[in-house]
Amino acid sequence: MKTILITGASSGIGASLARAYAADGVTLLLWGRDAARLDAVAAACRSQGAAVTTQAFDLRDAAGFAKLLAAVPVLDIAIFNAGLGGTAPADVAAEAPEVVQAIAEVNFTAPIIGANAVAGAMSARGTGHIVLVGSITESFPLPMAPTYAATKAGLKMFAEAFGIRMEKHGVKVTLVSPGFIDTPMSRSVTEPKPFLMDADTAAAIIKRRVAAGPRTIVVPWQFAVIRGVANLLPRALLRRILSRV
Ligand SMILES: NC(=O)c1ccc[n+]([C@@H]2O[C@H](COP(=O)([O-])OP(=O)(O)OC[C@H]3O[C@@H](n4cnc5c(N)ncnc54)[C@H](OP(=O)(O)O)[C@@H]3O)[C@@H](O)[C@H]2O)c1
Repeated sequence: MKTILITGASSGIGASLARAYAADGVTLLLWGRDAARLDAVAAACRSQGAAVTTQAFDLRDAAGFAKLLAAVPVLDIAIFNAGLGGTAPADVAAEAPEVVQAIAEVNFTAPIIGANAVAGAMSARGTGHIVLVGSITESFPLPMAPTYAATKAGLKMFAEAFGIRMEKHGVKVTLVSPGFIDTPMSRSVTEPKPFLMDADTAAAIIKRRVAAGPRTIVVPWQFAVIRGVANLLPRALLRRILSRV
């Protein structure tokens, strides 16, 4: 019997991950905001044999989120996937404070609170896997999404540091860095989306790779190559290229 928590399970990658993991002997805890979409994902997962509970909840309520997590059973896998896209409009210079706060709370604060909240019980049992869904933007100073990129860069640093910290407790930490995956979030992006992958394919790859317990996963893999090449460029040249995108 496996118990798996997935945040952001009402849409996109999270919904696909839920369906990918749904099977006999699996208990899924599916969290999101939209109760109706969450129920539809839960019904699909039950039809595949999984036991499912749902929680419609805004994880910007940090104290409430920690309290909910304190009440969950010990998890085999906790996937903190919920995220808020953040392309800043081109016709204004700066991002609005309330937008900055929302992106930071959903993409950075919540998964870090979540990882810490579940790590105690996992480490007491000496096993468990925490999966944090970041973004390949963590490696690029994107002028069209400065706050979004910064939250994902921060999450990347947390995943690495927390992974080292959890090693001696038997808990694995994996950072998943998607490129472009076809979901409601990416459909709002108007720029070109190279190597766009459908969410079910991405979820199948993530599930298969997570099972091996690596520190990082990039999906689609082409973005690992793009990042490798970008890292070879002088930073000033990278900034110049990005300023023209
Ligand atoms: N799609 C891509 O190309 C791409 C690329 C890089 C990284 N990512 C990352 O992948 C993850 C999943 O994104 P996606 O593309 O699947 O996006 P999505 O289809 O927009 O789904 C986002 C999920 O996060 C949930 N969520 C957002 N704000 C929330 C809040 N305040 N409280 C609780 N849940 C909240 C949404 O819940 P409701 O819908 O119920 O509100 C939804 O289930 C995110 O972390 C994103 O940054 C995606």
